[in-house]
Amino acid sequence: MSQQYKKALVTGGAGFIGSHIARRLKALGIEVAVIDDLSMGKAGNLTSGVEFHQASILDRNGLKKALDGVDIVFHNAARVSIRNSFDDIFGDTETNVLGTVNVLREAGKAGIKKFIFASSMAVYGDRARLPVTEEGVLEPISPYGAGKLAAEMYVRQLSRYYGFESVVLRYFNTYGPGQTLTPYVGVITIFINSLLQGRPPLVFGTGEQVRDFVYVGDVAEANILAMTRPLDGAIINVGTGRGTSVNDIAALLLNKFGAGLEPVRAPLPLGEPKDSGADITRARRLLGYDPRTSIDQAIGEVIESVKSTHAPQLAQA
Ligand SMILES: NC(=O)c1ccc[n+]([C@@H]2O[C@H](COP(=O)([O-])OP(=O)(O)OC[C@H]3O[C@@H](n4cnc5c(N)ncnc54)[C@H](O)[C@@H]3O)[C@@H](O)[C@H]2O)c1
Repeated sequence: MSQQYKKALVTGGAGFIGSHIARRLKALGIEVAVIDDLSMGKAGNLTSGVEFHQASILDRNGLKKALDGVDIVFHNAARVSIRNSFDDIFGDTETNVLGTVNVLREAGKAGIKKFIFASSMAVYGDRARLPVTEEGVLEPISPYGAGKLAAEMYVRQLSRYYGFESVVLRYFNTYGPGQTLTPYVGVITIFINSLLQGRPPLVFGTGEQVRDFVYVGDVAEANILAMTRPLDGAIINVGTGRGTSVNDIAALLLNKFGAGLEPVRAPLPLGEPKDSGADITRARRLLGYDPRTSIDQAIGEVIESVKSTHAPQLAQA
């Protein structure tokens, strides 16, 4: 591949998706800097050879240092919990909206050429027709979704103002090895972790809600493709186009290692859409994106990853 960019900054690069993007960039021979405050990410996720800045995206000086020599930014740092966005609206907005504005401003001043933003299917809410295209109704049902939508607008505005290319990628439910374990984000990782400890999966709502589960390697690939193509101003769904219900995930995992256990149920939390699914026609057309990894193929790898990273510590908790 011709080398368009010399040095990339991955914000949130010690987290789940950001660390996969950083690894792919390194493998392509691109110099990589990461800024992460380690509020959720782990230093252990960092690929060897990356330049690490432990700082918040709200810290202008930290950002300035991290942006030294950078010509492309992959902005993934965020608070990712819908639930937390209700409990701490100010903190969510501060990181996800003002933090994004801060990264855009410092990146603009540093003279970067391209900015790729990790947005979310949460911008659609519950009213869009499924599978949702990028023109679907934008009516977020959580502060997290509202913040991501506001941040998208700032990406468009400030990329024009500072004169760099921008791409917005709306990730759907991403899963894979290395996922940060929290009580509400990443149902596959959460179920595996429960089962490894002999606890049944906690299914919210009827469990019939459908999600578009996309493998983290495919999300990282979409970022790499978005880097290599001229796409100024594009907004692109990153999912698979296939829906899987939460009950199906629970059944798959119970089958593998949950003999004798039955799912436990709880009400669907506030801010969670009933169903969600991506139309990925645009991603195929503009990026040549072709998500190939199925849950069946990836699940063994994800189980091994949860075993080695999360289960031992949590078992003590
Ligand atoms: N995981 C998903 O299914 C999903 C779906 C849609 C969109 N996204 C978006 O993808 C991006 C990555 O999410 P993830 O799943 O890897 O989550 P993650 O929590 O593993 O990664 C986010 C990283 O950002 C860091 N961070 C948080 N606040 C920060 C701050 N103020 N300054 C610096 N670093 C900060 C965290 O420490 C963490 O390492 C986020 O922007 C998220 O909103 C994720």
